[in-house]
Amino acid sequence: MAGLMLCSVPLPLALTFSAPGAAKSPTSHAHGGMPPPLQSSRTSPTACPSFSSSAPSARRTPAIFSPSRRAAPPRMAFSPLVPFSLACTVPTTLGFWKSEYGVSYAYGTAMLSTGALLLASAPPSRLAYAHAACVAFYGLRLNLFLLWRELTIPRFRDFRDKIEARSTERGGRWKRTPFLLACSGLYLGMASPMVLTARAATAGRIAPLLLVLMYAGLYVAAVGDIWKSAVKAKRGSDVLVTSGPFAILRHPNYTGEFVLWSANAALGVSAAVSSNLVKQSAGWLAASAFGVCGICFVLMQAATSLEGKQAEKYAGEPTYEAWLRRTWAGPTFAKKA
Ligand SMILES: *[C@@H]1O[C@H](CO)[C@@H](O)[C@H](O)[C@H]1NC(C)=O
Repeated sequence: MAGLMLCSVPLPLALTFSAPGAAKSPTSHAHGGMPPPLQSSRTSPTACPSFSSSAPSARRTPAIFSPSRRAAPPRMAFSPLVPFSLACTVPTTLGFWKSEYGVSYAYGTAMLSTGALLLASAPPSRLAYAHAACVAFYGLRLNLFLLWRELTIPRFRDFRDKIEARSTERGGRWKRTPFLLACSGLYLGMASPMVLTARAATAGRIAPLLLVLMYAGLYVAAVGDIWKSAVKAKRGSDVLVTSGPFAILRHPNYTGEFVLWSANAALGVSAAVSSNLVKQSAGWLAASAFGVCGICFVLMQAATSLEGKQAEKYAGEPTYEAWLRRTWAGPTFAKKA
């Protein structure tokens, strides 16, 4: 009896989403958006072994995580809303301990864990897989870099403590709640495009290009961070870094991220539009729009403020003035005249 229950519960879902024969089966077409009804022969206990051997992935992961590739559009929404929300909220509570961690490690961890959750759900296409891998790798890379920097460079620990002192001055830790909730919402928005590509039967013609842009942005940001750290370690923290990626971009980590997250959102939109999922995925699309607007605003703000600081520190120095003419700041807000 227990065996019958175990076998019959996931069966309709598994047939709808991942059994290779399901897309061809007349019953699944006849029922449009709904899972096919259980058929008496399939609910019998003897049907269990053949079910599990023909669709092993459906047993390991929830069926909602593996929409069928053959069906266009997939018949039921892939919706990891709860795990994604947790993956974005739980790490952000680090900000109650050290305010700065809410935007550094929490950011990295949210991206790493949402990307990893998606990868673990066996994404239905290679593109969705590469998309999630990029986001996960971004988070992993960021966290490793932040950790290395904090452990090896005292200046960054001082910086963290200064932020903490300022934050505690302003009031109790619980006063951080709205800000930290906004951060989690932002991370969720940035993770949302992955859901759209994982739902999509096809991601559109420009999808490969967008994916390349994402990886390129990730690469530029990572190389920029490593390069600056290496030069400053060798020549002192006050040196103006103008070599390597800095010979072209003044703020490669912000510009790279800008490209990464813009392409990420565009990829989600492309997938939703090409697979006719716009109505069905309106929530995830809206979240993606919020995410990309939010992070681009933050990045532009950060680049603008760095521009100001560098101008203050190096203005009048010929190397700085020449570098300013030669290089691009990336997207920034216009300075007030
Ligand atoms: C990006 O680079 C700037 C300096 O160019 C640095 O202050 C900032 O911490 C970097 N951000 C990250 C997340 O590495």
